[in-house]
Amino acid sequence: MEASQKEQHAVNQIEEVFGEHKGYRRAHARGAGYKGLFEGSGEAIGLTDAEHFKNTTIPVLVRFSHFSPDPTWADAMSPVKGMAIQFKIGLEEVTNIVSVTSPVFFTRSPERFVEMLEVSRSFQKGRPKLAELAELLTDFPEVRAMFSSMKKMTVPESFATGIYHSIHAFYFEKHGNKQAIKYVFEPDAGEDKRSIKDMKDLPFGYYEQELAERTARSPVCFKLYAIIGEAGDPTDDPTRDWPKNRERIFLGRLVIEAPDDEAEQALYDPTVMTAGVSCSDDPILQFRRGAYRHSYEKRTAENG
Ligand code: HEM
Repeated sequence: MEASQKEQHAVNQIEEVFGEHKGYRRAHARGAGYKGLFEGSGEAIGLTDAEHFKNTTIPVLVRFSHFSPDPTWADAMSPVKGMAIQFKIGLEEVTNIVSVTSPVFFTRSPERFVEMLEVSRSFQKGRPKLAELAELLTDFPEVRAMFSSMKKMTVPESFATGIYHSIHAFYFEKHGNKQAIKYVFEPDAGEDKRSIKDMKDLPFGYYEQELAERTARSPVCFKLYAIIGEAGDPTDDPTRDWPKNRERIFLGRLVIEAPDDEAEQALYDPTVMTAGVSCSDDPILQFRRGAYRHSYEKRTAENG
């Protein structure tokens, strides 16, 4: 499906602010693709018949990334890291989970996302519209929350030691029942987070190099859990995390083995589902489909 004008505009706005980096993704530009396996646990069988969560092993593509749309930014300038997974369910079918090392996003509407980019653009060009920023801050508490969380922002010491969140809610479906869930990946290596200051002198490309060395020694693994939503937990607001005490179901183990070029080039559209799992009506999640498609088409055309 073609990206709507609004989705294309959002991608163009990202380019206005961060520059046009031909051949790269328009967000999470720099990263590293890997291939591996997902060993499903079968423990969520009461809630979903999704193929990859059965007691079975399937191939996956995984891409780690730094969030910046500018591939020349230093590693530590991107405190949020990404991990995108494509589960190869059959010869023709895939489903994706796209996750980051933050449990929340900074805005809950695509329109707001674009407005924020527009404000940043005026800052970049040296004509700060302070009144607009002030208005944003007063009207939108999620923006205040973002600034306060940026102050205590940490960064994982390796791509392999971050906790990665889907942020959005999805539904597990079985026999007409729907259960809201969110995904979280926990590293077998244990979480290791540092202050941005600690990481600021790292050489460019440190994370990619470190992961290549780590996987050459042994696979890098994560446990995937479904966090089970309860009545009242928001399913359409990516700025709000669910309470910490929610039940979790172990869905399986992600085993990341070796670098892979297909994984580096792939399109990880977070709305590509499979039978047994569906998207929530979170407007940001829905918006991402077209934005990612547009960025994918640009970068593949540029890469010839
Ligand atoms: C309005 C909201 C958003 C917009 C417009 C947006 C836009 C984009 C674009 C254009 C790309 C590059 C796609 C490609 O070329 O394949 C991308 C990648 C990515 N985004 Fe978003 N994004 C949004 C929200 C989010 C959220 C909420 C998350 C949190 C899970 C997220 C995580 C990622 C990750 C991890 C990647 C890299 C995927 C890969 O490795 O291929 N994004 N985003």
